[in-house]
Amino acid sequence: MEKDSNSGSGPFEAGSAPIPDAPLLGYRNYWYPVVEARRIGRRPISVKILGEDIVLFPGKEGKVAALVDRCPHRGTMLSRGRILFPGTLSCGYHGWTYNGDGECVAAIVEGPESNLPGKVRVQSYPTEVRFGIVWAFFGEGDPPPLDEDLPPELKEPGIMTHFTFREWQCNWRNVVENYPDILHAPYVHRTSVEIIFNKVPAWGKCHFELLADGKGMHVRGIGGGVQGDYPGVGKFPAHLWWRVLRRRYKRKEWSGESTAGGDIRMPGNIVVKVRDPYCGVHISNMGWPVPVDEHRTRHLNFLVTYPGNSIHRLALKIWYNFYFRHVHQLFLRQDRRLIEVQRYREGEHLSNTDIALIQWRKLAPKIARRAKAATAAAEGQSGKPTQGQDEKERDVGLSR
Ligand code: FES
Ligand SMILES: [Fe+2]
Repeated sequence: MEKDSNSGSGPFEAGSAPIPDAPLLGYRNYWYPVVEARRIGRRPISVKILGEDIVLFPGKEGKVAALVDRCPHRGTMLSRGRILFPGTLSCGYHGWTYNGDGECVAAIVEGPESNLPGKVRVQSYPTEVRFGIVWAFFGEGDPPPLDEDLPPELKEPGIMTHFTFREWQCNWRNVVENYPDILHAPYVHRTSVEIIFNKVPAWGKCHFELLADGKGMHVRGIGGGVQGDYPGVGKFPAHLWWRVLRRRYKRKEWSGESTAGGDIRMPGNIVVKVRDPYCGVHISNMGWPVPVDEHRTRHLNFLVTYPGNSIHRLALKIWYNFYFRHVHQLFLRQDRRLIEVQRYREGEHLSNTDIALIQWRKLAPKIARRAKAATAAAEGQSGKPTQGQDEKERDVGLSR
């Protein structure tokens, strides 16, 4: 089911049902990338995520423990405490000590005879370490496997991964909405090192379609022309003689995609398949904005490359660390300088080039995973499946 933006009527016309805002602090009941695994060491670390303070420390059997960063005794932050016993964290104030499941296992100041152990607990979140990153499930009940929330590009055999975390000074919703807003890319990034010699469109249309796995949508920009003559103002771009490169892909499964595009999935990550025009490296380039609080987002730029052998692997490591990570941060900075000062949906005047963005806004709340307990309760009351369960069978909002 593919839709084209620049024809017919849009769902944003008068009379359309209002589309709800995305949650200010992110969708719960998903796995999120939290921090680099190498940061977990002898000291507890404090991280804010989805508006909540979390403390991370080494748990039992190589696991990473993630607890709400608040001691139930007198409310100080557990991250100010110390690791006195393996697999536990002792509060810095009176020494109440918690294991990786959040159970109080000792209360130092109250003494070895204290009856607090077993009676007090702190909320814990399930974690897993994968690709050198600590992932945590922020939700209720048993989590689905981490693989459920990873895009397919991260599950291919033989891949190599590279990543960089950066904090952006804005709410996560603006960062996520930058992705389905695909037509900003050839305009904002035309001066980036990555595409400065490429023939990039001056204007275009937006295509979108529901992904087969029902977890999001594919968004693609279709270029209208590399130079336009705009009545009354002139040509844009004024010059383009140096733009001599075109998109080319050697990976068979990527061929046919001649325009920029990407897959966006819940709770808001995107994968764009591109090829470095200078080194020929094929990349699945992933952006994963993680909500921190109302005004901050931890942006994970996650790259998948495809090494053929160990020498190629080494070359890719050098390519990423000495070239691409720096160049791509400059690319992302072009987005960031605009997004950090953007408002969220306030007084906006959308146009036909925003069609994929509008569809994403409609789709996301419909397919968002809900807490198991809430789902079961709703089913019990109505006898019917609820939102998020039957998304494959329902019209998920992509039709107009
Ligand atoms: S406040 Fe944590 S042990 Fe007292
Ligand atoms: Fe961008």
